[in-house]
Amino acid sequence: SQALRIGLAGLGTVGAAVFRLLSQKAEHVAVRAGRPVQVVGVCARDRGRDRGIDLSGVAWYDDPAALAAAEDVDCFVELMGGDGDPAHAAVRAALTAGKPVVTANKALLAAHGVDLAQLAEANGTTIGYEAAVAGGIPIIKTLREAVAGNKVSRVYGILNGTCNYILTRMEDEGLSFADCLAEAQRLGYAEADPTFDVEGHDSAHKLAILSALAFGTKIDTDSIHLEGISSITLEDLEAAEELGFRVKLLGVARRTDTGIEQRVTPTMVPKSSAMAGIHGVLNAVAVDGDEVGEIMLVGPGAGSTATASAVAGDIVDIARGGMHSSVFGIPATELIDYKPARMRA
Ligand code: NAP
Ligand code: HSE
Repeated sequence: SQALRIGLAGLGTVGAAVFRLLSQKAEHVAVRAGRPVQVVGVCARDRGRDRGIDLSGVAWYDDPAALAAAEDVDCFVELMGGDGDPAHAAVRAALTAGKPVVTANKALLAAHGVDLAQLAEANGTTIGYEAAVAGGIPIIKTLREAVAGNKVSRVYGILNGTCNYILTRMEDEGLSFADCLAEAQRLGYAEADPTFDVEGHDSAHKLAILSALAFGTKIDTDSIHLEGISSITLEDLEAAEELGFRVKLLGVARRTDTGIEQRVTPTMVPKSSAMAGIHGVLNAVAVDGDEVGEIMLVGPGAGSTATASAVAGDIVDIARGGMHSSVFGIPATELIDYKPARMRA
């Protein structure tokens, strides 16, 4: 049967891992996808950089939007990052041409997700973004599909691998914030600008996406009460430890009587709680549904292979024609305005 031909923009930590997965596991992926999946074109900034992958026979593009629109590309995979161009223009080009998009770019979705979903749906196509929230954890499909019969009252968790890695290494080994952040960057966990991680913006982007899925509301990152971890000291963590707590950067979105409350804040959690046991680059996301009760998903929240795993899952869904037709679970034109809760002081 006919191959799904991929245009892959971004060959960094995640993009190179996706390329590697699709080439090294071509047979396995083809069986799951019901047809071969082949990368036909790629794009990055530096053509000369050694990425440890064999790009022979693959077309190189300097312009991501040209790759997205290329005639022999059936599916566009965006792994460059950033909430503006060229990622935005390239994703729009693919969707306008009716091509499905797979992306790990939560900043782009937080800024333009509703418009992009409308564009996708108007053109009879879709956006796969499982990798955009909590790395390898399948929280998008869980909220959109697995718990669709529930009214969700709360979704919360540890949504940033870099911050959790920093906090747990500071707590367990007494290392400095700066050393832990440098290590998270070396391991490929951090954003290109790590301020997004440590100041909580990345968690806020992810929480805003989860809110849309959980509550059927338009994405509204600006309403999130936001505090990062950059001012947390070893002394703060020791004081919490003495009182029987660990510190986690939690994102919480919940229905209240006055609207939806969304916050990203460093939070003291009892050492005996499940969240306290989430170490290193792991993330955890809990969902409260009126039928199922509380479920919690745990797994690697960042890193090359875990993120590539989620991207590959979306590509396989698209190849099989099995992706949900509504990007956020209900038609994007029916997402309601987000009404922020009156926050407690
Ligand atoms: P990265 O290592 O910095 O890679 C970015 C890639 O995009 C590089 O190959 C870069 O080219 C290319 N690129 C950047 N700007 C470009 C431009 N203007 N034109 C063409 N190519 C451009 O980033 P990453 O960690 O792989 O992250 C990629 C995306 O995945 C981001 O949206 C990020 O938020 C998301 N994500 C990352 C992780 C993770 O653990 N790293 C997990 C989940 C989601 P050069 O290589 O030539 O510089
Ligand atoms: N920088 C992000 C994190 C990547 O550390 O969680 C995964 O989205």
